[in-house]
Order: sequence, then C-alpha cells, then structure tokens
Amino acid sequence: MHEPVKPTRILRIDPSNPRIDYLIEAARVIKYGGLVIFPTETVYGLGADAMNNLAVRKIFEAKGRPLDNPLIVHISDINQLNILSDNVKEEVYQLAEKFWPGPLTVVLYRSERVPYEVCAGLETVAVRMPAHPVALKLIELSGTPIAAPSANPAGKPSPTSGEHVKRDMMGRVDVIIDSGETLYGVESTIIDITRDPPLLLRPGALPIEEIEKTIKKKIVIPEFARGLIEASEAIAPGMKYRHYAPSKPLQVIESSDYSNLERYSLGVFKHVKRLMDNGLKVVLLASSETTQYYHEVEILSLGSRKNLFEVARNLYKALRKIDELDIDIAVSEGFEEKGLGLTIMNRLRKASGYNIIRI
Ligand code: TXA
Ligand code: MG
Repeated sequence: MHEPVKPTRILRIDPSNPRIDYLIEAARVIKYGGLVIFPTETVYGLGADAMNNLAVRKIFEAKGRPLDNPLIVHISDINQLNILSDNVKEEVYQLAEKFWPGPLTVVLYRSERVPYEVCAGLETVAVRMPAHPVALKLIELSGTPIAAPSANPAGKPSPTSGEHVKRDMMGRVDVIIDSGETLYGVESTIIDITRDPPLLLRPGALPIEEIEKTIKKKIVIPEFARGLIEASEAIAPGMKYRHYAPSKPLQVIESSDYSNLERYSLGVFKHVKRLMDNGLKVVLLASSETTQYYHEVEILSLGSRKNLFEVARNLYKALRKIDELDIDIAVSEGFEEKGLGLTIMNRLRKASGYNIIRI
C-alpha cells in the first residue's frame, strides 16, 4: 500500500438534512477523477467515476486491493443500467422495482462502455442502487455511476462508521464524507443473474428468501457463499481473498441445532474454559440469550438471536473490537443459517479463516 500523502478533506453530512454545498463539492471531486469515501445503508464505500479508468485504478491503490477483484457500480437512477449493460433481463427490473434503492447487488453482462478495471476483465458487471440519501445525491450530482468497494484497507472488516474510515483511510483519498453509523452494518447481497436460476455470490443485508419470493425461483447457494470454503476464481473472483478478519485468532463454535440453547452454551462454555485453563485470555462473542450461562468469561455481546438484524449490525464492530482488547483469542457462538443468519455465518466463518469447531 502507498504511504498516506493526500490532504483529505472531511465533510460531515447529516443524512436527515444533507448539506448540498458539501455534496456539490464531493461530486466535483468525483467528476475530476478523484476519490470520495461516502456512506451507504450497508457500509461505507470508496468511490470514483465508474466510467473513468484512471480514476478507478486509484481505488485499487488506495485500498491495497488486488487488481483481479472487480468493483460494484452504484447508480442513482434505473436508466443508468443501460449505460452499464446492453440487454437487461426483465427479472432485473422486477428485482429493481422491489428492492432498489436497497442492499441488493446484481451481476449482469456488461456493455463495452464499462472500463476494464471496474470488472477486472470479466464479461460481467456488478450493480446496485444504494438506499442512502447522501449516496444517491452524490451519484446524481456527479452525473455518472460511481464504482466503489467497501472503504476498508484490503482484508479488514468493512467500515460501518465515519470513525472507522477516518482511522483507516485518512491521507489515502481526497474526501471522506462522515455521516455517522450505517444502517445495516453488513454489505449488500450479491446474486449472479446471468445464471438461471441465479447464483448467490455473497449473502448480505437482504435475506435471499425475500429475493426468492420476488422472482419465484430458488437461488443456488454454493458452499463458498455459506463461508465454508474458498470460492473458485472463475465464479466469484473476489471471494477468494481473506475478508473481515481481525488480526487476533478467532474460532467459531457451531452446532447443527440451536433449539436447545442451554445445552449448546454448555458446550461453548466447556471449550472456552479449556482455553482459559491453558492460560489464554479469551473473549467470547455471544448472543444476549446465552450470556447468563457463561461465568467469569469476558463477553462481547452481539445482540439477540430474535433480532438478527441487530447481530449483523454489531458484527463488524465486534470484529474490530477484538483487536483492541487485551486478549489472546476470540471465540464466537454460531447462528442458524436462515435469513440474515446465513450472512452472519458467512462473515464469521471467513473472519475466522475457517477455524470452525463443531459441537
Ligand atoms: O454493500 C456493499 O456491497 C458495499 C457498498 C459500498 O456498496 N460494497 C462492497 O464492495 O461490499 P466490495 O468490493 O467490498 O465487494 C464487492 C464484491 C467483491 O467480492 C467482488 O469480487 C464482487 O463483489 N464482484 C464485483 N463485480 C463482480 C462481478 N462482475 N462478478 C462477480 N463478482 C463481482
Ligand atoms: Mg469489501
């Protein structure tokens, strides 16, 4: 990664009352080929003009991102789809109608106009319309689709607050828009719609069950989308890289059945106790329902199992917290892979480097 050199301008924009002069300033930076970090409803993005290959190349430099990992293109108007793709399927419009703006990314065949760098040489392009007033206005004022990966240095958890991006990316971009915490705290759901039935590339903030209801088809869930194995490069280019990872070791303790939480947490407790008896300082990422079963164990609460939206939202904050604590190892409970549970387990398994213990 390059040394920080750029003077970074920080613009605080209140999403409920966005300052138009700040947005015009940030849009001008995009138009002239610069880099702007902006909030979305999922995580912060590191954006550049998607149609300007030189600008897009700067994204990869600022993040330390490998060039073979393609970017998501963000649009503010459905008509921009026609710039990015020549023959948009009816199914895409059906999904857009229902879920855009929102945390769904679709992979489509790309048009010749999309720069090579955005798609890392693939025949396809990933597109979404973010549900955040600041993001939408920024795209609109820029007058161009904005290519943006999550605004973290490669390999780190995605930033879910202005504080995260300021800590990680100062000096690497022209503008940081700080609009506080993001709503979902986890990235968009990505489906490859060039396939029939569509293939899940990454579970995210939108549960796939909802997409299935809309298109009236079952989505194919490959093992890598569950976070159990690395993806092969041909199918999901970016998924092979280690993601979301704290620098301390993390273990995930899974069960095939979470219906008896008392029994499950007893198993988790035994495992944690064994680590502690071996002299290790442990932190346990646990749900609020099970905290009562752990005695003299340091706990990072993820929230309630009855509200997986909350757990997903707390996840990256917890992963970042692991590195700040005076501990040797983190252990996390597992969750049932339904709804957002699939997303949570994908992130936890990948963050642990597949360090999965089944009890
Ligand atoms: O919520 C989100 O999706 C956030 C916000 C900023 O929009 N963005 C985000 O981008 O998470 P990023 O770059 O961190 O993750 C995008 C993923 C990568 O794993 C990349 O490999 C995959 O999307 N991707 C992009 N274009 C693709 C394509 N044409 N085919 C397959 N996968 C693609
Ligand atoms: Mg990312």
